[in-house]
Amino acid sequence: MARSVLAELDLETVLQRVLEAARGLTDARYAALGVLDGSRAELDRFLTLGIGDAGRAEIGDLPRGRGVLGELIERPEPLRLAEVGRHPRSWGFPPGHPPMSTFLGVPILVDGLPYGNLYLAEKEGGGEFTADDEEAVVLLAEFAGVAIDHAGRYTGARRRQDELERTVATLDATTQIAKAVGAETDLGVILELVAKRGRALVSARALLIEIVRGAELEVAGAAGEFPPELLGERFPLAETVASAALRTRRTQGLEDELNRSRYEQHGLGRLGLDAAEGLVVPLVFRNQTYGVLIAVDRLEDGPRFDADDQRLLEAFAASAATAVASATSVAVEQHRQRLAAAEAERRRWARELHDETLQGLAALRIRLALARKGEQREALDDAVGEAIGQLEEEIGNLRALITDLRPAALDEFGVAGALETLAGRVGRNGLQVQLVLGPAGGGLGGRPVRYTAELESAVYRVVQESLTNASKHGGARRASVELRDDGATVEVVVWDDGSGFDPGAGTEGFGLLGMRERALLLGGTLDVDSAPGQGTTVRLSVPAVRADESDAAPGLRSVGG
Ligand SMILES: Nc1ncnc2c1ncn2[C@@H]1O[C@H](COP(=O)(O)OP(=O)(O)O)[C@@H](O)[C@H]1O
Ligand SMILES: [Mg+2]
Repeated sequence: MARSVLAELDLETVLQRVLEAARGLTDARYAALGVLDGSRAELDRFLTLGIGDAGRAEIGDLPRGRGVLGELIERPEPLRLAEVGRHPRSWGFPPGHPPMSTFLGVPILVDGLPYGNLYLAEKEGGGEFTADDEEAVVLLAEFAGVAIDHAGRYTGARRRQDELERTVATLDATTQIAKAVGAETDLGVILELVAKRGRALVSARALLIEIVRGAELEVAGAAGEFPPELLGERFPLAETVASAALRTRRTQGLEDELNRSRYEQHGLGRLGLDAAEGLVVPLVFRNQTYGVLIAVDRLEDGPRFDADDQRLLEAFAASAATAVASATSVAVEQHRQRLAAAEAERRRWARELHDETLQGLAALRIRLALARKGEQREALDDAVGEAIGQLEEEIGNLRALITDLRPAALDEFGVAGALETLAGRVGRNGLQVQLVLGPAGGGLGGRPVRYTAELESAVYRVVQESLTNASKHGGARRASVELRDDGATVEVVVWDDGSGFDPGAGTEGFGLLGMRERALLLGGTLDVDSAPGQGTTVRLSVPAVRADESDAAPGLRSVGG
């Protein structure tokens, strides 16, 4: 950034940058930042972005913090709405105010106390603000709090300018990380970015990120000069400088003698990372510790880091911790697994389409082309006859594939009906399936029970995959599928008389992984009982949620959601 701009930096500039970053991160048309007054009950100031001066003049008085904005003041928690005008506290907009529907509001805390709120409205493209947007703005707000705190704290002119200059650099780094957290589900990529930006901020020779994994530390990210084999290395947490930083929740320096010996005997020093000086900063988010940032050897005017470096790195660590926390959260992990499973499934369809259908059609094309070149009418007739037969077969293949993708029977007849169709199809391919559907299947004249779409798909997929495995891997001839529902739990048991396998042997592919993933998502379990020579039993057990129960009463639906 140009020096001239930096010279004018002050709190206003920081606020403006936060506003711009928030708008850029979320593709919002309008962004605003409301600053609370001393009583913390009303807005004292209201900075906007996206509404021109003319628009502002027309709207007149800036909001004081009633209506939906008041909601955020009273309850400082992220608020995401599809239609802000439908919120029960909506006051409506004053004349001249541009129309706004989608809305995202996130509080900014300074030193643990409400300072103000970030408001975003009208996501470009017409969609709603997403959970990723919310996450990114929460991350930004977290840092904004630190930056505002800093901007207010330093008054000496030269010092202040330096401080602000670096505050803005941290803000930029944070914004990039927030962006990455929104777009990336790969923790490794995020950590690499955190390491690089953190290193640049304090001009460290190297910056490493250690994440706590149970009783161990893992070197999960690194930038700068470091022995490459360090990345991914794990070692005991006990006795390390990191453990001291995590226990005290305070930055530890290597100039401390005890820390120095911890570093050399138990930490990265023992693993070959030389350090003349170093800072070890804990990653704390919402009172939970995730690991540490370790910066070694300042390159400019080093190797010692000064108090400013430490403060800066601590500010940066606050946002890095948020990123690490959200990237390691269960939700993201599940998302990642789901993507992998979906990708594997897609690859399977691609392979099947290519191997079966496409190759069959290509062969057919060649046959017909050859026949047309030939002289004899008869040969052409034969070829056409064969072609029709082959086309019918390919149509059948495609039908089966389409049915596999999302069986129409599942939507139309529910699980029981779809399983009957499936059993019939598998039976024609040489695996005899006995179905025991029980009352869930509807019975005589009864209507089959309908569950939520996710539950029905899960049951179907588990049975489908189990039967495929039974004939493909186990060479099974007979199988049974039992469906039970005691009102609270739906249980599906698939048994086959095939060769069996050792489920503990770690040969699990995407089939079994996908089954477990589905069970997990529905709050249930999946057990595989098998041994070589003994057949296989797969048991899925999930809470029974019927289709009519899953719809919340209209009055309970969240506003604007
Ligand atoms: N019913 C079964 N009978 C015998 N072996 C099985 C059965 N189900 C699974 N397996 C074994 O477990 C492995 C993993 O299965 P799965 O996760 O479905 O992946 P994939 O089918 O893609 O190999 C199979 O390769 C096979 O060795
Ligand atoms: Mg399989």
